[in-house]
Amino acid sequence: MRVLITGGAGFIGSNFIHYWIKKHPEDYIVNLDKLTYAGNADNLKSVENNQNYLFIKGDICDPKIVGEAMKGVDVVVNFAAESHVDRSILDPSPFITTNVLGTQVLLEAAANARVKRFHHVSTDEVFGALGLASSERFSEDTNYNPRSPYAASKAASDHLVRAYFYTYKLPITISNCSNNFGPYQFPEKLISLAITNLLEGKKIPIYGDGLYVRDWLYVEDHCEAIDLILSKGKEGETYCVGVDNDIANIDVIKKILKMLGKSEKDTERVKDRPGHDRRYAINSEKIKKELGWQSNHTFEKSLTQTVKWYQDNSNWWKALKNKEFDAYYKKQYKTLS
Ligand code: NAD
Ligand code: TYD
Repeated sequence: MRVLITGGAGFIGSNFIHYWIKKHPEDYIVNLDKLTYAGNADNLKSVENNQNYLFIKGDICDPKIVGEAMKGVDVVVNFAAESHVDRSILDPSPFITTNVLGTQVLLEAAANARVKRFHHVSTDEVFGALGLASSERFSEDTNYNPRSPYAASKAASDHLVRAYFYTYKLPITISNCSNNFGPYQFPEKLISLAITNLLEGKKIPIYGDGLYVRDWLYVEDHCEAIDLILSKGKEGETYCVGVDNDIANIDVIKKILKMLGKSEKDTERVKDRPGHDRRYAINSEKIKKELGWQSNHTFEKSLTQTVKWYQDNSNWWKALKNKEFDAYYKKQYKTLS
């Protein structure tokens, strides 16, 4: 089988390529990635000479390169996106270009190439925010209510993917998952930033009261979910993926502080993110019941492994915390001392 993975040089995409090569070594993988600030060829060093792997540097918004990459492809897994909420608040335009227009270019090429499956990787953020006091969880039936430019762009892309199913009979599936963590995560998201800041002797910036809740999903669990959706998922269907691991930011941070022998003195309260979604939580009954998916990793153990990975791979993340990153950091965390 020939699999086109877009955004394969990013966090989840590169984990997925490592996972797929191990699990399905007979398949041929094409990785189409623009290598934005978040894309990193180093994530795939160990596979770059694999005979069943081809890297194409290119933009999913470019119909010509997408058409070339799509030739002979059986299955597409679309990870390519601008993915960071804070950057979408600083400048929404690349989010609209890549996440909305880029997805449409991919869909068009996939329909023309008559691929057997187009899987779109999306987020629980399209559903909006839950209250702290409520016990509600997002499911496949929850109405869309995106509240950040990032979430709005992902919501638009999901709608386009479904439109190609109904209008052009493109065999699609969509997954909406919760916050991922693990190796190779660009050090701008909460867990990767917290660990690397502490390792550099810097503080962890905590937005607002720190009581925002996320359902942290280990990236390998997510890769297994996508694998199952590709093999057993029903065309046209959406699957929500989460692990009932709802935890307040402050509690995640306390665990990381403890693992690295640090204290709350190594944190700093900063100005809150505008429109900050209070709580995300996912009901994963559908993927569990219909496809037999389950999480195989506990939060405690996978967080410990993740901390160790960043300790063991300081060259990897230090190269990313460069001048460009510093400029972003200064802009984003103006109030930090
Ligand atoms: P990431 O930012 O780490 O990686 C994105 C990758 O896409 C990078 O390699 C980048 O170079 C590439 N890319 C960006 N624009 C491109 C373009 N125009 N053409 C080609 N390649 C381009 O993101 P991630 O965290 O790995 O997320 C992957 C997908 O999963 C995204 O679609 C994201 O919305 C979704 N998602 C992520 C999370 C999470 O917690 N990280 C949670 C839910 C859903
Ligand atoms: P993030 O990792 O950016 O993911 P998302 O916004 O997609 O959920 O943020 C996770 C949570 O952590 C969110 O509530 C915002 C918060 N946060 C901080 O408190 N400080 C930070 O420096 C960052 C990046 C996030």
